[in-house]
Amino acid sequence: MTRSRSVLTQNLKRKLIAKRDAFFTKISDQGIALTYDDVRLTTGYSAILPDNINVESKFSKNVGLKIPIVSAAMDTVTEAEMAIEIAKLGGIGVIHKNFSAQEQAAQVAKVKYHLNGLIEKPICFDENASIGEILAYKKEKGFAFHSFLIIDGNHCLVGILTKNDFDFCENHALKAKEIMTKNVISGNPGVGLREAYHIMRENRKKVLPLIDRDKRIAGLYTFSDVKRILFGDSKTFNVDKDGRLRVAAAVGVYDDALERVEKLISEKVDLVIVDTAHGDSKGVIETLKLLKKRYDIDVMAGNISEPESAERLCRAGADGLKVGQGPGSICTTRIIAGIGKPQVSAIYECAKVASKFGVPVCADGGLKFSGDIPIAIGAGAHSVMMGNMLAGTKESPGEFRFHQGVQYKVYRGMGSLGAMESNKGSRERYNQGKNDLVPEGMEGMVPYKGPLREVFYQYLGGLRRGMGYVGAENIEELRMIAQFVRITEAGKAESHPHNIMITREAPNY
Ligand code: XMP
Repeated sequence: MTRSRSVLTQNLKRKLIAKRDAFFTKISDQGIALTYDDVRLTTGYSAILPDNINVESKFSKNVGLKIPIVSAAMDTVTEAEMAIEIAKLGGIGVIHKNFSAQEQAAQVAKVKYHLNGLIEKPICFDENASIGEILAYKKEKGFAFHSFLIIDGNHCLVGILTKNDFDFCENHALKAKEIMTKNVISGNPGVGLREAYHIMRENRKKVLPLIDRDKRIAGLYTFSDVKRILFGDSKTFNVDKDGRLRVAAAVGVYDDALERVEKLISEKVDLVIVDTAHGDSKGVIETLKLLKKRYDIDVMAGNISEPESAERLCRAGADGLKVGQGPGSICTTRIIAGIGKPQVSAIYECAKVASKFGVPVCADGGLKFSGDIPIAIGAGAHSVMMGNMLAGTKESPGEFRFHQGVQYKVYRGMGSLGAMESNKGSRERYNQGKNDLVPEGMEGMVPYKGPLREVFYQYLGGLRRGMGYVGAENIEELRMIAQFVRITEAGKAESHPHNIMITREAPNY
């Protein structure tokens, strides 16, 4: 995050935090809980322009976000195509678990290998291969690049061939070892994207092989890719330390989690979520502890809506919490089971506890408009997870449907009859067996919205405008200083367009 130029003093921040605490305490003391439509944020003094606002945030302790939006682990929302596009826009996608462990890991791999940050298995040739053979192989495979690593019989790096070597070589019968550059600048296997960039720049080299102590090849960076990832069009990309797009994946409990996590880690997943409808449960807590003990990876857990649940999961080692029980547009949990808590109060109460442990909170479900994003973050969330607001985009896996001449995409709850009948992952999320299902979600469709990029332009525009009105120049400030008012039904009606026949639809309403 950039350094704050905020006009807010520490003292003022403390006062604002206390004022918001008093607001929510008074509400909960009356046994009331609030949701998005019950509240608005109040405006505050602002010296910043929406374009100068920094919306970087965190998904979990060690997984960052360039924008605080996450796509839901649902089979009509997030597969590789959505995860690639959302990571390119700065967020992260969570690959759903209605895939088998194998298929889910393959989806993660598609995202992780979409960009060439670190090329893990670069193309190498033996030092005795002729230039003619190498050029023929390059043509056959359609490689557009011109730098090849050269190895000896022990697979140790001995040289490199670059475009100049090929261009100036007139005798294609020559062996690689006769024309290659032998003095190769290389790095250790741990070199990250930025360090690689500096090494290549300082040495004016177009590629940087990474080699281990035995001179065996452990990867390769190319200057053009690294520069594009760090500074080019791709500066919005949410990437890991090796320049790969970030991606998360949902897992169940016990054996399901262990089987999936093994495979997901081997494809370099950034984070896993023990994703169930009831996160404050023995299965989730035991699985969370097991995963944290066995693997060096961030583990998020959910879903919850009570502060005591947040405390239990934080103590069990969660690196992130997912808050939301029943706010989702396709959820019927609150109706069929009678449980849950309106989302804004749930976020505030869980985030208050989680912040003591330094654990980020993701507000999952229930968002309808871009204005709900600053409200969720103002209540304490670090990010929002969307299902409905993304299901109608080009990148979602939902099928297209036409209804009365209008284009829609299918969107269904993971606890809907259709999803549970056909998928074990869905049944486990809702702790159900194969027969006599009790659905906790609906199946339906949402209007087609077009490419994610255009949709996000509006969502982030709304977030930035909200932050500008509040006077928060970054996400952390919004989390601290946002102030709420409770609105009545009349206030809600006044908030929406009224007394007008709309003649032209807006792209964000
Ligand atoms: P939105 O409002 O964005 O919510 O559509 C997406 C979130 O809803 C949760 N989810 C469900 N909850 N029954 C539920 O009670 C379901 O069938 C269901 N499917 C998804 C999930 O947390 C998702 O991110």
